[in-house]
Amino acid sequence: MTELKNDRFLRALMRQPVDQTPVWMMRQAGRYLPEYRATRAQAGDFMSLCKNAELACEVTIQPLERYPLDAAILFSDILTIPDAMGCGLYFEAGEGPRFSHPVRTAADIDRLPVPPMADALDYVMNAVKTIRRELNGRVPLIGFSGSPWTLATYMIEGAGSKEYRYAKGLMYSDPGALHALLEKLAAAVTDYLNAQIAAGAQAVQIFDTWGGVLTEPAYREFSLKYMESIVQGLVREADGRPVPVILFTKGGGQWLEAMADTGCDALGLDWTVDLGQCRERVGNRVALQGNLDPSVLFGNDEQVRREVERVLTSFGSHPGHVFNLGHGINQHVDPSRPATMIKAVQEISRALHAGTN
Ligand code: CP3
Repeated sequence: MTELKNDRFLRALMRQPVDQTPVWMMRQAGRYLPEYRATRAQAGDFMSLCKNAELACEVTIQPLERYPLDAAILFSDILTIPDAMGCGLYFEAGEGPRFSHPVRTAADIDRLPVPPMADALDYVMNAVKTIRRELNGRVPLIGFSGSPWTLATYMIEGAGSKEYRYAKGLMYSDPGALHALLEKLAAAVTDYLNAQIAAGAQAVQIFDTWGGVLTEPAYREFSLKYMESIVQGLVREADGRPVPVILFTKGGGQWLEAMADTGCDALGLDWTVDLGQCRERVGNRVALQGNLDPSVLFGNDEQVRREVERVLTSFGSHPGHVFNLGHGINQHVDPSRPATMIKAVQEISRALHAGTN
């Protein structure tokens, strides 16, 4: 077991004091980096990149070579699970993900297999092991999965969606069928995340990207309940350290108390909520991660610094904050912007934390 040289991220998730606020960015390995585009071209396409452990490792580490980030995130995609369940994932250039076999009826759902994920997604586990080896304890590695509801929306629609015509249609016309699908997905996600933890993931994040499009009762019944069963089913320790679990429901600001009740360690927040207010609501129970508006990175140095300061001071000097964007970094961001953001996080948070440790 290699010793972790920088454990700020894990400490903050467990609400322990840190010298400066740890920072990483959702989608930190991606198209805004020219070196990512070069490696993807070498791989041929996005899924080939995900399936090649050496290249997936290379792009995972690329943002760490550029910026002093406090965590790495596995390079993969949330849609690997539906692909392993036979939905036939492919990417149409410029159009996002597509499935050749969408799941629309109770019979489709009934037929869906739930293969053991350590085998079906062995390429992901190989990537995790390769990345852990190459990181050599530099920073912790985050594993991840989509939430059952978010995965279900893609499987039912057959693609990304604005209205969720088929997914919400099924929810209201045949809720039992949707529950059957979500139950299969919750089992698959639990198995998948536990396999990532066994392979070396040191924290995990569940991306509930589309939970925020639901009504309050529907969110609890069709998204939160299944995330709770996943949290309860995860192996929460590895190498003698806790493996923290982060729940991120985009647009979930009104449900934070209920999210904290799942037993997770941290909540990811989008930019529409005030961190200080969120901390008052749930801060003594879970850590908070976020929540700079990703569009701030289209601003100038001074604007980036000002917004970083606003986010950090809103949370204050308490332990339990991981700095992040409120959603993934945009592909059109100039790679010099994150450098400004991270430097500001380090400088401002050091001053904030001085004397509190
Ligand atoms: O954060 C990271 O750096 C880790 C890698 C990661 C990717 N996707 C790589 C990726 C993670 C954590 C994801 C999660 C993901 N994938 C989500 C949830 C995250 C969120 O933003 O809330 C969703 C909804 C997906 C599904 C998906 N995959 C979409 C909508 C797209 C974009 C398609 C497009 O062409 O715009 C992808 C592809 C994808 N996943 C890319 C990357 C870097 C871009 C693919 C490319 O290189 O062309």
